[in-house]
Amino acid sequence: MLTNKPKTKILVDGGDPDETLRVKSVLGFVDGQTTNPSLIAKNPEIQQRIASGHTLTPTEEADEYRKIVQAISPLVGDAGVSIEVFADLDTSAEEMFSQGEEMFSWIPNAYIKYPCTHEGLRAAEMSVQQEIRVNITLCFSQEQAAAVYVATKGSREPVYVSPFVGRLDDRGEDGIDVVKNIKTMYKNGDGHVHVLSASIRHLDHLLASFALNAELVTVPAKVTDEWAASNFPIPDQNFTYKAVGANGQPLKPIPYKELDLNLPWQSFDIAHELTTKGIQKFVADYRSTLQRSA
Ligand code: G3P
Repeated sequence: MLTNKPKTKILVDGGDPDETLRVKSVLGFVDGQTTNPSLIAKNPEIQQRIASGHTLTPTEEADEYRKIVQAISPLVGDAGVSIEVFADLDTSAEEMFSQGEEMFSWIPNAYIKYPCTHEGLRAAEMSVQQEIRVNITLCFSQEQAAAVYVATKGSREPVYVSPFVGRLDDRGEDGIDVVKNIKTMYKNGDGHVHVLSASIRHLDHLLASFALNAELVTVPAKVTDEWAASNFPIPDQNFTYKAVGANGQPLKPIPYKELDLNLPWQSFDIAHELTTKGIQKFVADYRSTLQRSA
């Protein structure tokens, strides 16, 4: 079990309460959990229902999602459970917000995940005004994180922003640089946005997130197992991150930009191809699993 707990809070990236319990027994604690439509679609009970020929109605889908997060909620610490709204590229902020309001009532420690798009940020803006905690997901750029900061300014609760490290690596860019750049940019801010390093694929991503003092990191069970198997290393000041991709090829650095956090959030260029693709993938994974015969 882990004796030297890192400062970075550790969340399980998954959709199965049994898996969360297993990670908790390996680490001795779990600070929180993140879920998303692709992960919920992989939940073993959902898979079983589908395999037995059952097609879920939209109400049944929401019920299943609610049951899963209600089972996870008491297992985790104060970083809460992030629940993602169902959004495609046409979903309006008002539609996302109304789902978010409902999902926020499911458990006492919910964070509502909205995509880092114009509509997602409008929904986040409305949410923080109603004291609904938010996690802005599918973040791939410093500009997007600047917009998250400004759109949620004044929030009483910490807001999470989730840069997706592995998906930038997948296309040859150094995803860890985005975490580093956001952390540097936020040094000039009021601290209301916490960086939640996400899309963690291997141990070095986890260790680099610790070394950069990300407030939180969400980790698939496979990577917490890797960490445990290497006896829970924690990076010291001599740690250097090797920015290499899955095939050992060097990743392209992402340079830091000077951005002014006093500008209106709509002034930042938040468009990112991977955010669009990410939304499409969540919709496709969810629909193909849950409504196969629809
Ligand atoms: O934490 C975000 C995560 O669920 C996405 O991970 O591996 O699909 O990029 P991945």
